[in-house]
Amino acid sequence: MGRFEGKTVFITGGARGMGAAHVRGFAAEGAKVVIADLLGAEGEALAREIGAQARFQRLDVTQEAQWAEAAAAAEAAFGPISVLVNNAGVFRTGLLEEMKPADWRLVLEVNLTGVFLGMQAAVPSMRRAGGGAIVNVSSASGLYAQSTVSAYAASKWGVRAVTKTAALELGRYKIRVNSVHPGFVDTPMLPAGSEAYSQNFALPGVVDPDVITRMVLFVASDEACFSTGSEFVADGGLSLAGGRATKK
Ligand SMILES: NC(=O)c1ccc[n+]([C@@H]2O[C@H](COP(=O)([O-])OP(=O)(O)OC[C@H]3O[C@@H](n4cnc5c(N)ncnc54)[C@H](O)[C@@H]3O)[C@@H](O)[C@H]2O)c1
Repeated sequence: MGRFEGKTVFITGGARGMGAAHVRGFAAEGAKVVIADLLGAEGEALAREIGAQARFQRLDVTQEAQWAEAAAAAEAAFGPISVLVNNAGVFRTGLLEEMKPADWRLVLEVNLTGVFLGMQAAVPSMRRAGGGAIVNVSSASGLYAQSTVSAYAASKWGVRAVTKTAALELGRYKIRVNSVHPGFVDTPMLPAGSEAYSQNFALPGVVDPDVITRMVLFVASDEACFSTGSEFVADGGLSLAGGRATKK
């Protein structure tokens, strides 16, 4: 028996990168998985690969009305939602003085407002399921300070904050809410030069998405039944003093 046998799991940004790894991981543990993303071709292809246990749902996480439709469709197809993984995200860099306000707004809208809207839309369904787990994907950037990522860091620190508020409010419904904080992971989002930069970390190197999937599965599962409002970090030490380890 898988840890998520028969459970409905809703994953945003599930069409590629880490989200796709999470989709495969939950499906392998028996879940019925909704792959929610803007990317139709990739999402449909992944759903076909997995088969009857998965369905693609086109969703822009910044759109409240689309969330209502997506949550209703998920429940109609697979039953009430037990796990929500708010993974969709975008990355923009630039010095504070140079960043375009439109980039700032996009990053906050997708990475932070998208998480808020997702929780609002999924909680009624999770309550009908009798409880569940929400895993909000933050970042090492939600734990420490870094130049050129003001919008991204603000969004990811915000995810950490709203996770704790939600944990306090939703515990009474047996819904746990935690944040996951990856370091450098090999996906289309990772900037060029990251492998070289990571050589400064306590644990050097860029990791495969599966490393983060294992943590997400644990946090969403009953194995983590006493954890809520917590940060789960898998970053090779990046967030320790910006990742610079002592050299021999
Ligand atoms: N790659 C890393 O090193 C790294 C490190 C820390 C945190 N993260 C976070 O992990 C998450 C997954 O990122 P990834 O590295 O797999 O990147 P990715 O770009 O491969 O995947 C992001 C996914 O989100 C989707 N998406 C973007 N905007 C959306 C929207 N408005 N509505 C719905 N879907 C949308 C994209 O289409 C894509 O499928 C993100 O939240 C990211 O910030 C990534």
